[in-house]
Amino acid sequence: MQRSFTLRIESADEVREFICHPGQSIVQAMARQGASEHPAVGCRNGGCGVCKMRVTGGEYTLGRMSLAELNEQERQQHIYLACRVYPTSDLNATFIGRK
Ligand code: FES
Repeated sequence: MQRSFTLRIESADEVREFICHPGQSIVQAMARQGASEHPAVGCRNGGCGVCKMRVTGGEYTLGRMSLAELNEQERQQHIYLACRVYPTSDLNATFIGRK
């Protein structure tokens, strides 16, 4: 059995940790652990942009995400839509949100 990963998500006023199982996105892991009220949890399908985060450490794979919500410069800075980021190791990220 694959082990789970620890996600450390920073936002303006707090740092929270979440357990993420293999195959889950960052947002799925957050919502499963009662963070549905967190401003990062929106459509959960890469379309609304509210879950934008900068990944600051760890390994991951990416799913499809809206180019309307994320430009090339952001992707080069490891900024992604967290509902389409699938951790494959412990991971750190900073919440940005939709601007
Ligand atoms: S929750 Fe809507 S784009 Fe991620």
